[in-house]
Amino acid sequence: MGKETYNVAVVGATGAVGEELRKILAERQFPVDTLRLLASERSAGQRLDFRGRQIPVEVLDEDSFGDIDIALFSAGGSVSARYAQAAVDAGAVVIDNTSHFRMDEDVPLVVPEVNADRIAEHRGIIANPNCSTIQMVVALKPLYDAAGISRIVVSTYQSVSGAGRRAMEELGRQTAALFNDRDVECEQFPHQIAFNCIPHIDKFLPDGYTKEEWKMIQETRKILDDPEIRITATAVRVPVFCSHSESINVETRNKLTAADVRAILREAPGVLLQDDFQKSEYPLATEATGMDATCVGRIREDDSVENGIHLWVVADNLRKGAALNAVQIAEILIRDYH
Ligand code: A2P
Repeated sequence: MGKETYNVAVVGATGAVGEELRKILAERQFPVDTLRLLASERSAGQRLDFRGRQIPVEVLDEDSFGDIDIALFSAGGSVSARYAQAAVDAGAVVIDNTSHFRMDEDVPLVVPEVNADRIAEHRGIIANPNCSTIQMVVALKPLYDAAGISRIVVSTYQSVSGAGRRAMEELGRQTAALFNDRDVECEQFPHQIAFNCIPHIDKFLPDGYTKEEWKMIQETRKILDDPEIRITATAVRVPVFCSHSESINVETRNKLTAADVRAILREAPGVLLQDDFQKSEYPLATEATGMDATCVGRIREDDSVENGIHLWVVADNLRKGAALNAVQIAEILIRDYH
């Protein structure tokens, strides 16, 4: 690319991730020349703040990408399917936050702390992994490098912001309705989410797993470049506004003690160790929200298997799970791949 500043487009600019993208581009002083904010006709006429300026939202179409160097897509898989190639054809590099391209062989699936080198292989599109996958691999890669991993059992406690802005509003509305003795209305989730846990994220596959669980399994193998790892997942939506929590049980190939794991993760890129049970210190969704780090705690040995370790991993799904990871990829792209 070789420029001093870049023209950047955000597709899905009015959404929950779109808002974080604007914030993070500004916070990290990404060298933006022009920022083009794109959404559907529903948002035409809106203006959104970027670095103190009010930028009009434009309606996305095939011609939206003239002069754009980097296009950050976060408007759903069908929008990426329809418009990402138009952005590439116009000369942009697409960093796609949806699941649409993630498992394509010629599309790198990148978490900068784990496999930044894969960015070199891109042919116009780089995929940002699923939010639950990102925080899991940030925590597990250093253990993988130290001792190998043979099996992962993960259960997620995922916030409603992962389902978008309207889902956040639905949790608020349902909570207020229940406090006021009114009936709840369910539009964004298959069941009431307020005061509930729903073990159903994305659609069901014929074997009874959900697509969200399948994504965690397949994407983790692709990112760690190890198809042999045995992984199983249960993905659960919980009535938390932001940040995903995960209980991860991992079997390493070689023995790691809990102290070994703490020592490794204390030095690990992108990880914040919060692990002092005697002080009731462990990662919490309320505290992780707004942070860049993937927080890890409750580290303990699982004696029910030979080399078992338990971890509790929490991260802001809109930041590290989406917008921050995408901007980190863009930063490497302009730094290393001119
Ligand atoms: P809009 O606000 O105009 O509907 P979230 O995941 O928080 O729900 O956000 C989804 C984002 O994707 C929003 O910015 C939304 O814009 C955008 N979006 C959804 N469908 C389309 C579409 N067909 N074309 C362009 N943008 C879309």
